[in-house]
Amino acid sequence: MVNAVNTIRKISEGAEADIYLTELFGIRCVIKYRRKKSYMPQKLDETLRLRRTRSEAKAMITARHAGIPVPSVLLVSRFSVFMEMIDGTMLYELDGKLPRSALKYSGKILAKLHNSDIAHGDFTKANLMMRKDGSLYVIDFGLAAQTNSIEEKALDLLLLERSLGEEFGTALKEYKRFAVSGSVVLSKLKEIETRGRYQERSLTTAKE
Ligand SMILES: Nc1ncnc2c1ncn2[C@@H]1O[C@H](COP(=O)(O)OP(=O)(O)OP(=O)(O)O)[C@@H](O)[C@H]1O
Ligand SMILES: [Mg+2]
Repeated sequence: MVNAVNTIRKISEGAEADIYLTELFGIRCVIKYRRKKSYMPQKLDETLRLRRTRSEAKAMITARHAGIPVPSVLLVSRFSVFMEMIDGTMLYELDGKLPRSALKYSGKILAKLHNSDIAHGDFTKANLMMRKDGSLYVIDFGLAAQTNSIEEKALDLLLLERSLGEEFGTALKEYKRFAVSGSVVLSKLKEIETRGRYQERSLTTAKE
């Protein structure tokens, strides 16, 4: 019998999922396991974890089919997604200014996700990984949704803007170049930002 899984090591513990590193049929792989929430009724907890695991795997597969650099899904079980391990560094871990190529890639990747009607839901430096050869991968589809909602796409852009700060301009330029509905999403982003500023101002004046 082939020993499919050798050693297994926990590499990260998120809010909802634990990440393990192991080997599956000789391929280094990452297992994202959605943890049990003891404070929740068991049936509901299982239904939600099952739903999230499936939707995460589904979004990754759709993205991969569209040629977007995401880890390939190797196996899906009830609460776990087994995926290709990407050997790289998360963008938020890099010191100093980000390479221009990484900024451009981030805009292009987001445009391609949106062209496939996928809103990522957490498109930040904490979910973008750069390999040694400079190529960029997007991970963590835990909050992703299959949708054509302009608002959800604009929220992805807003998160990226907040995450990149001054460096957002380079990513945005590339987003506009590749996104089919780029100008509509951008108008929505401006609208959301204006709404936010208005609400902040109203709150400050109300306090005064
Ligand atoms: N395919 C992968 N290859 C290499 N490292 C990975 C991979 N997937 C996840 N990781 C590592 O595990 C960390 C957490 O993964 P991920 O972002 O998917 O989970 P999370 O943020 O805890 O999830 P959630 O927000 O859904 O609870 C990443 O920051 C990264 O360091
Ligand atoms: Mg994450």
